[in-house]
Amino acid sequence: MSKVPVIAIDGPSGAGKGAVAQALAEKLNYHLLDSGAVYRAAGLHAMENGADLTDEASVVASLESMRATFIPHADGVKVYLAGIDVTGKLRSEATAEAASQVAVMARVRAALLDEQRSFRTQPGLIADGRDMGSVVFPDACVKVYLSASAEVRAARRAKQLKEKGMEVTISSLMKDISARDERDCSREHSPLVASQDALQIDSSSMSIEEVVEQILLAVAKTGSISVACS
Ligand code: DC
Repeated sequence: MSKVPVIAIDGPSGAGKGAVAQALAEKLNYHLLDSGAVYRAAGLHAMENGADLTDEASVVASLESMRATFIPHADGVKVYLAGIDVTGKLRSEATAEAASQVAVMARVRAALLDEQRSFRTQPGLIADGRDMGSVVFPDACVKVYLSASAEVRAARRAKQLKEKGMEVTISSLMKDISARDERDCSREHSPLVASQDALQIDSSSMSIEEVVEQILLAVAKTGSISVACS
């Protein structure tokens, strides 16, 4: 039986991965994995359960009681922890920080692997994150590394957060984004890197549609997925 096709999209936060992944999933009628939401759920759960976010054993122990549900939604994914909708909380900067802290821990990453791989079901999966092509789905048929300048990413993040009613300044976001980039890229386990076989796209001056178009062209070239979509 042939494997379920995966398109892996990795890159730093604010590069547009979420919107691109969502648009691709809609076009191809594929499932969607927002792996950042999985790490955010883990960070939030650990925080709310009083785990010490600097202590790996404490965070891993807290994950044993995590009951997370991810429901696809028009705006991305709705996330529930023990049946409670935490989608709004998940997008806060405090949760992003907690996610980035627990994401450096090898045992946390290992504990979240099965959860992420369980999204791989027919007819296919669009997976977005930091290590989708390098670690979680190394056999993905198309790998994309999507980046954008730090200024553009901070401006996009500010717009997203403002739309959700959160007040932020670009300068504080720039600082937070740079600190998280540094941690995501320099950590020992599954650091954010562009796989050698990844198509690299800088979305700084591109629209979501242009990025999607470029990825669909790459998909068509592989011939591994029939792109019979509009
Ligand atoms: O994409 P995001 O901002 O929602 O991700 C939140 C944090 O989770 C980010 O700091 C990096 C981490 N993360 C990760 O380490 N590996 C992934 N595959 C996805 C996210």
